[in-house]
Amino acid sequence: MNKIKQSIEKSINKQINAEEFSARLYKSMASWCDVNGLPGCAKFFWAHGDEEMEHMMRFVKYLNNRGGHALFDAVEKPQQEFKDITEIFELANKHEEEVTKMINDMYAIAEKEKDYATCNMLQWFIAEQVEEEALFGECLDTIKCAGKTNIFLADQAIAGKE
Ligand code: FEO
Repeated sequence: MNKIKQSIEKSINKQINAEEFSARLYKSMASWCDVNGLPGCAKFFWAHGDEEMEHMMRFVKYLNNRGGHALFDAVEKPQQEFKDITEIFELANKHEEEVTKMINDMYAIAEKEKDYATCNMLQWFIAEQVEEEALFGECLDTIKCAGKTNIFLADQAIAGKE
């Protein structure tokens, strides 16, 4: 087997940790929504946390299939307290923009190493990030438009988004 290069293995292992962090960040946000009377937003973030674990597993399986070794490192503690739901969606939005940058950086490394299999695998994530940024941006707009008076309606609308 054409074993994966160390530089790519390192970048995938870094991303495995980043995806697990994303999952914990969104689950932390879900828990805050749960205890602050926003069940729709909680549902959205619990589900999104699960999706991040699926992203993590895609990287784990890919790396092991390529003759590398997926490693589970310590995960940073996510933020636990938030000012309000607007802050949550602003942070989530910013977080997804950072993830997009990480995926793009990985793509640049894979391209430089002429690892076209990894480039191909990353194409899925590039498309996924376009969707994720659009989704989180939409949720933030919904929250901002609703303001405090219509937060109940915004919460219901966000419950149906995925
Ligand atoms: Fe794994 Fe939300 O990107």
